[in-house]
Amino acid sequence: MICVTALLAAGCGTGGIAKGGDPGKGGTLFVQKCGSCHTLSAAQTKGAVGPNLDDAFASDRGQGYKDSTIQQVVRDQIEIAGGRMPANLVTGSSADDVAAYVAACAAIENPGSSCHVSAAVGPALPGLAGKGQKLYVSLGCQGCHTTDGSKSTGPSFKGLYGRRTKLTNGQTVTANMAYLLDSIRDPDKQIVQGYSPGIMSSAIKPGSVSTADAKALIAFIKTLK
Ligand code: HEC
Ligand code: HEC
Repeated sequence: MICVTALLAAGCGTGGIAKGGDPGKGGTLFVQKCGSCHTLSAAQTKGAVGPNLDDAFASDRGQGYKDSTIQQVVRDQIEIAGGRMPANLVTGSSADDVAAYVAACAAIENPGSSCHVSAAVGPALPGLAGKGQKLYVSLGCQGCHTTDGSKSTGPSFKGLYGRRTKLTNGQTVTANMAYLLDSIRDPDKQIVQGYSPGIMSSAIKPGSVSTADAKALIAFIKTLK
């Protein structure tokens, strides 16, 4: 956050110059990659791990900073990150898109329809998997887990069911029903190698997802081969 002030004053960060960027594309990415940690009312995200981005940019807007300045601040933050924010969750033109979205839609009194994001997670599935698909969006799992194998804060759900997974305690486990139930119900019990404890549990408190909901989520994960 020191960086933000410094950038506005002088120029900070090694990041590329933010250029172009499509807020329309950026909104969907924002919900998927940033929303679990950041509140931004236009995107209807409610994450509380990082600062509320409406609040973060309200005073900048009040002081008359241009969208392009805010876009550059966000673009640098994506690349440099720091604290509990992972760097480079989005890169290249996707990072430009996300930065453009935040610049156009954060701390705006009456955001236009271009700021509203519909969470796209593919066509609606039937049955228990369909219930899990809805929970994946409403509980904010999509903020940290992708369904297409791409990088995010947590491991992708694609191919997760039945995967052999190395844990930080040195064990290798198979991601079966029992393991997945534990991972969802008690996030810090076992930690996947390469990840830190406390990230998922900061958003999903132990025991907060019911066993029935966890089973629906697992039915959805099973469809992501
Ligand atoms: C795992 C949680 C997490 C994710 C995911 C995340 N952030 Fe952050 N973000 C944070 C935290 C924590 C901070 C505060 C960093 C610090 O204290 O240095 C932060 C800070 C920021 C800031 C600076 C706000 C300020 O008040 O100065 C911006 C802008 C930002 N994030 C944008 C994003 C964008 C855009 C994405 C998606 C590409 C994203 N964040 C993804 C946790 C996260
Ligand atoms: C704030 C980010 C965040 C949110 C939100 C989140 N997770 Fe996670 N999740 C992680 C991280 C980081 C890991 C890897 C560390 C670990 O094993 O706990 C993880 C691990 C997992 C694993 C084990 C994956 C593997 O490869 O073995 C499952 C299953 C899982 N999460 C399910 C969920 C479900 C279901 C939700 C929504 C109810 C959810 N997560 C929400 C960050 C998150």
